[in-house]
Amino acid sequence: MARLIVPGDVVLLIGELGAGKTVFAQGFASGLGYEGQVTSPTFVLVQQYEGRLTMFHSDMYRLGSLSEVADLGLVEIGVEGVLVIEWGDFARPVVGSDFLEVVIDLDGEGRRMLAFTPVGESWERRATLLAQAVGS
Ligand SMILES: Nc1ncnc2c1ncn2[C@@H]1O[C@H](COP(=O)(O)OP(=O)(O)O)[C@@H](O)[C@H]1O
Ligand SMILES: [Mg+2]
Repeated sequence: MARLIVPGDVVLLIGELGAGKTVFAQGFASGLGYEGQVTSPTFVLVQQYEGRLTMFHSDMYRLGSLSEVADLGLVEIGVEGVLVIEWGDFARPVVGSDFLEVVIDLDGEGRRMLAFTPVGESWERRATLLAQAVGS
C-alpha cells in the first residue's frame, strides 16, 4: 500500500485505543523503506521518519480542540511527505479534501477488520490500485 503514496498524501487512522493504529503506522513506515522503530506519538505532536519519502506521524488523542489541531499546521508540515494521523477522525476538518481513511475495528475475539476509504480525486484515481494492494 505504501508504494501508492505520493508527496502530500494524508492517511487518517481511525479506531479505538488498542485498535492497532500505531502498529499500522509501523508497517506503513516499513513499506516506505524506513527501517527503524516507530513509536506511539501520543506524547509528541509530530514524529518524523525518513523512508522513500518522509513520513510525518501524529496523534490527535491528547489534543483538546479543533483549533489546537488546526494550530499544528499539519497539512503544511506534511506537504513534502506523507502525513499519518492517529485518531484522524478529529483531524478530518483540517486536512483538506483528499485523504485515505483507514478504519480499524477490533472485535471482542481479537480479530481486526480494516476498511479503506479513498476520499477526494487523487485517492479515487488510485482506488483500484489500492484495492489490489490491500487484497480486496
Ligand atoms: N495487526 C495486529 N496484529 C496483531 N496485534 C496487533 C495488531 N495491531 C495491534 N496489535 C496489538 O495491539 C496493541 C495495541 O496496538 P496499537 O497499534 O498501539 O493501538 P492504537 O495505536 O490503535 O492505540 C499492540 O501493542 C499489539 O499488541
Ligand atoms: Mg497509537
